[in-house]
Amino acid sequence: MTAKNIMLTPGPTPLPPSVLEAMSRPLIHHRTAEFGRMFVSVIEDMQFVYRTKGTVLMMTTSGTGAMESAVINLLSPGDLTIVCTTGAFGDRFVNIHKAFGLKPVVLPFEWGTAINPETLRAALKENKGVKAVFMQHTDTSTGVLNDIKTLSKIVHEESDALVVVDSVSGLACEPLETDAWGLDCVVTGSQKGLMNAPGLGFAAVSEKAWKAVEVSKLPKFNFDYKLIRKSLADKETPWTPAISIVAGQAAALKMLRAEGMEACWKRHDDLAAHARKLLTEKLGLPFYSKNPANILTGVVLPAGVDGTKLLSDILKEEGISIAGGQLHLKGKIFRLAHMGYISKSDIDAGVDALAKRLVGVKA
Ligand SMILES: Cc1ncc(COP(=O)(O)O)c(C=O)c1O
Repeated sequence: MTAKNIMLTPGPTPLPPSVLEAMSRPLIHHRTAEFGRMFVSVIEDMQFVYRTKGTVLMMTTSGTGAMESAVINLLSPGDLTIVCTTGAFGDRFVNIHKAFGLKPVVLPFEWGTAINPETLRAALKENKGVKAVFMQHTDTSTGVLNDIKTLSKIVHEESDALVVVDSVSGLACEPLETDAWGLDCVVTGSQKGLMNAPGLGFAAVSEKAWKAVEVSKLPKFNFDYKLIRKSLADKETPWTPAISIVAGQAAALKMLRAEGMEACWKRHDDLAAHARKLLTEKLGLPFYSKNPANILTGVVLPAGVDGTKLLSDILKEEGISIAGGQLHLKGKIFRLAHMGYISKSDIDAGVDALAKRLVGVKA
């Protein structure tokens, strides 16, 4: 193991020094004015990142908990929903629905491709009375970007359904306009574009979504949006939050505020272009996604290369973490992340480590 561990994984991502410093400060109690100030700064800065004037809720949970919170707070037993799936995380929304006894209409799209807007339009025409449509901004299992602006427009043209977006890996990495695009609930997690440790989930909730929350009858307790909103007015959370991770989030969000969202999106655009140019020049292997997001680049490995061993050798010998494929893609692709605090020099080191082991291997 080298002295410096380089993370090129699509979450968790590396942490800026100011975030590490904030997390290592002595703990403060969460029912204090000092915590209240920090918490409010996180919520206001998250409104800035989400581009919303609506409510932002914070929960101590991972991204999956934030996804679950949207399902259980917006819906009631028997509600009709559509779940668009472009990979492992769309499937997760389906599984959450099933865990709560819901039977969504599932619109599956081939892995590596994006949601087809006209397929969604046809499904909305066919299924009247849909309460909510669920989709990923970016699906981290495939690296695909979905056109949320267009998809949301179609949902609003064809129905009264809520638009629910999982932007766990997309937020801060790809443009997203919660208010301007008419998004009703956007969930995310702290450990990717938000440059923080894992442990916090967020939900941006529109006025229309609050009306659904008022009548929602699915069981909920820990993630009850009404309770969380009530505490927010008192500058606190209903339960003990992950205080040190909130401190880390406050520091990371200060960086995003100073940078500005357009510049942040542009940085991810530049990082993705840099990674793809290098990968093409040094490896020349095919990319996996047909509509790649700026969060990561998926690369198809030559048949005969054991991707799992390749990545474990790179980690063991060079201290560089690169993600492999998930589910049926295990061992067949690698996913090199370029999100959050990952730098061009981190990417260079990762591509060098890959090239050293792959150049000369026949595709
Ligand atoms: C798009 C997307 N949704 C949801 C999740 C789930 O988040 P977590 O692993 O924090 O529960 C992830 C995590 O990788 C993700 O990338």
